[in-house]
Amino acid sequence: MISPNTIQQITNRIDIIDVVGEFVKLKKRGTNYLGLCPFHNEKTPSFTVSPAKEIYKCFGCGKSGNTIGFVMEHEKCSYVEALRWLAARYNIEVEETETSPEQKLQQQTADSLYAINHFAQRFFSEQLFEGSEGQTIAMSYLKERGFRNEVLQKFQVGYNPEARDTLTRALLTNQFSREVLPKTGLVSVRNEELVDNYRGRIIFPIHGITGKIIGFGARVIGKSDRGPKYINTPENEIYTKSKILYGAYFARMAIDKADECLLVEGYTDVVSLHQAGIENVVASGGTSLTTDQLRLIKKYTNNLTIIYDGDSAGVKAALRGLDMALEESLNVRLVLIPDNEDPDSYVNKVGTRAFNEFVAASKKDFIIFQLEVMLKEAGNDVTKKSDVVNQVAETLSKISRAEDFTKQQDYIRQCSSLLRIDESGLTNLVNKYKRDRITKEEKRAAGQEQAALPPQEFQGQPEDVLDETQLLLQQDEAHERNLLRVLLDYGLRDWDDTQKMADHIFEELQDFHFENQQLEKLFEEYRSWYQRGLEPTTRTLLYHEDEQIRQAVVNISVVPFELSQNWDEVMEMKIVGVDNSRQDVSSSVNFFKLQKIKKLIEQNQRDMEHASYDDFKMLHEVHNHLKQLETSITNQMHTVIIK
Ligand code: GTP
Ligand code: MN
Repeated sequence: MISPNTIQQITNRIDIIDVVGEFVKLKKRGTNYLGLCPFHNEKTPSFTVSPAKEIYKCFGCGKSGNTIGFVMEHEKCSYVEALRWLAARYNIEVEETETSPEQKLQQQTADSLYAINHFAQRFFSEQLFEGSEGQTIAMSYLKERGFRNEVLQKFQVGYNPEARDTLTRALLTNQFSREVLPKTGLVSVRNEELVDNYRGRIIFPIHGITGKIIGFGARVIGKSDRGPKYINTPENEIYTKSKILYGAYFARMAIDKADECLLVEGYTDVVSLHQAGIENVVASGGTSLTTDQLRLIKKYTNNLTIIYDGDSAGVKAALRGLDMALEESLNVRLVLIPDNEDPDSYVNKVGTRAFNEFVAASKKDFIIFQLEVMLKEAGNDVTKKSDVVNQVAETLSKISRAEDFTKQQDYIRQCSSLLRIDESGLTNLVNKYKRDRITKEEKRAAGQEQAALPPQEFQGQPEDVLDETQLLLQQDEAHERNLLRVLLDYGLRDWDDTQKMADHIFEELQDFHFENQQLEKLFEEYRSWYQRGLEPTTRTLLYHEDEQIRQAVVNISVVPFELSQNWDEVMEMKIVGVDNSRQDVSSSVNFFKLQKIKKLIEQNQRDMEHASYDDFKMLHEVHNHLKQLETSITNQMHTVIIK
């Protein structure tokens, strides 16, 4: 862990113009700087950097963040890595904090695992390239399959001999810890003795994203039926299957360059395609893709092309995970290799050029592909066909980012034509699924565990309330954001002789809650800093260690406020340079409260409709009380405005 002191030094030294300017040519425009966005292709600049707020925002692709976020995004690295990057740039010495005993132990185990894997890899390669058994048994098999030395060396392929403990003995001679060894999967315990686990197998080392070896895949030679075809490293401190794509370390530059990632099933597919000069390729290991794996791909490209063998069970597995790809805004295409071939055998058979041509010509959008498969299966069965319609609608409803709207429209058009149904009907159904999900998420957020009702079937008449709900939510949020804005901007100024603005705000909002959890978290974090005597400001919170808090601060700073009513007046005073902070705070507090009270009144009215007589009397009193509150707040606002 980097010490808070170092983080402070780094954030104090950061100059966003300097850091961003290293990658983007910036021009001054008023108080801001403008340039071509490094995160998407554009000809006219819409990438804006505000040195005052220390944030960037692209009005083309919507990406935004602080300086650290920029480095993370641009260098595809983690928060801590970005801090180290900036520390190096500004010559700041990085001080590490004390770690807990558990963290230390975990770190030590991880270090030993890396060391053992490193040793084992060299051992295996030596056995393959120099050992006589490696040459006669393993190398001859690999050569027969067409692998050449160069590519085998690049991927550090190796061989584990047949004898029961060749590797184990080498490891023990080199003083590797007996306790850690079994965790690597390289050895196992038989009758209290350690023996090699991958005997007589070809070894494919698996590289982490920094190039260190995190695990292995071990293949039997030929068509042997001695145990499973492949054995893989078990989960341990450095190997998490769901986060790994085989070959990513060797493919990342090529993926970036081609702006496309090819996904295949197996180790040998990756190695063969590399040998054929196709380097933007990774393997999933034949299981369905996880969100972590999709995110890993998305760091480099939005275009994923899955190349599987046509009859493989893997196709189904791969498709299963793909709705997530839509949520991540990935464009997914599918290529099926015919005639029982897989990418490895196919590229060996037809050569690089024909392979590339085949892929280009047979790429099929995965949603359309999925639809065609389902339609074929449904045949003339009406019930089945209606299931298909529902499934497609649900899938399409997951395309939810604003920038993907036209993509969604396009799909709706294509799918409704394939399904031979009305386009607007499909649109309605898609919206219905979207709405159900929003409701479900709200319920979950509100802590109600009650499951949402299943979506209504296609025959129903979906009513269009989505826009309304969204609008309401947005308005609510606007008031909440606005309140945080004044808190961050003016919280530390004096409200009167005894109180700061922050004290005033906390006092006024005692009985009120936020709807938006991210904003609430920021509010609470502000309060906790403030009460501990720290000085929370936009600047300090912008570099908070919690991603959600950083993003909340960014959102507040960049989103324009569409509040009506006296908003114009407030802005006007700002422009003529009057210090209106006190009024800004007070009207923001009032708007916030008013909004919440209105909601309470509505809720109370709904309760009254179904209440018994006694309850009604009580609810009616509540109603009167709320109305009084409402009036007193509106009166107060009028006096302020008129004054
Ligand atoms: P070759 O047959 O040598 O070309 O290997 P391949 O990589 O083409 O294997 P295949 O297409 O049969 O399987 C694809 C991937 O699934 C492999 O690379 C492995 O990651 C995984 N896999 C295959 N068989 C097994 C197995 O028996 N056990 C485990 N754990 N994984 C397997
Ligand atoms: Mn194969």
